[in-house]
Amino acid sequence: MTPEQTADQAIDPAWFRRVLGQHPTGVTVITAVGTDGQPVGMAVGSFTSVSLHPPLVAFFPDQASTTWPKIQPAGSFCANVLGADHEWICRLFATKGIDRFAEIAWRPAGSGAPIIDAAVAWIDCDLAAVQEAGDHFIVTGRVRALGITSEGPPLVFHRGAYGSFTPLS
Ligand SMILES: Cc1cc2nc3c(=O)[nH]c(=O)nc-3n(C[C@H](O)[C@H](O)[C@H](O)COP(=O)(O)O)c2cc1C
Repeated sequence: MTPEQTADQAIDPAWFRRVLGQHPTGVTVITAVGTDGQPVGMAVGSFTSVSLHPPLVAFFPDQASTTWPKIQPAGSFCANVLGADHEWICRLFATKGIDRFAEIAWRPAGSGAPIIDAAVAWIDCDLAAVQEAGDHFIVTGRVRALGITSEGPPLVFHRGAYGSFTPLS
């Protein structure tokens, strides 16, 4: 195991990923309708709740993402929370060069952004702010509507692997 690294040392990227991989995340597909009218979406582990008053959420797209520049002009997006059975949907929305919506049933949220039928929950948002943060952006959304489709267990990403959540109590 690589020795502990502190802030005054250069941080090795592989070690950064390894340590941050200890932190489990949920998996969400961020969707929107592109300027050409076609649905677009990308899988993210960085979706998070930010504020209740006003209701804000955020996610962090890579500046190298080719999907984020299609989401931004829409001015709105929908975060679709994936369930334990949806590893295939996550993989689909992390794959380049394919029609990600070919086998995905969806309906438009109030903003027009796709709600994926299979998602366990959805959060429809207006784009509120975009800030640069290193090689990513911090994208904040103001929630306009949200819902739960299923109370099933979520998909969890941890140490580079997919799993689910089992309550201890
Ligand atoms: C579990 C998981 C979590 C991911 N989290 C993020 C994320 O938070 N931000 C991001 O930009 N890409 C994330 N990705 C990668 C994107 O899904 C993927 O690179 C992207 O959709 C494909 O490139 P594109 O944006 O050019 O279409 C994640 C991928 C996986 C499998």
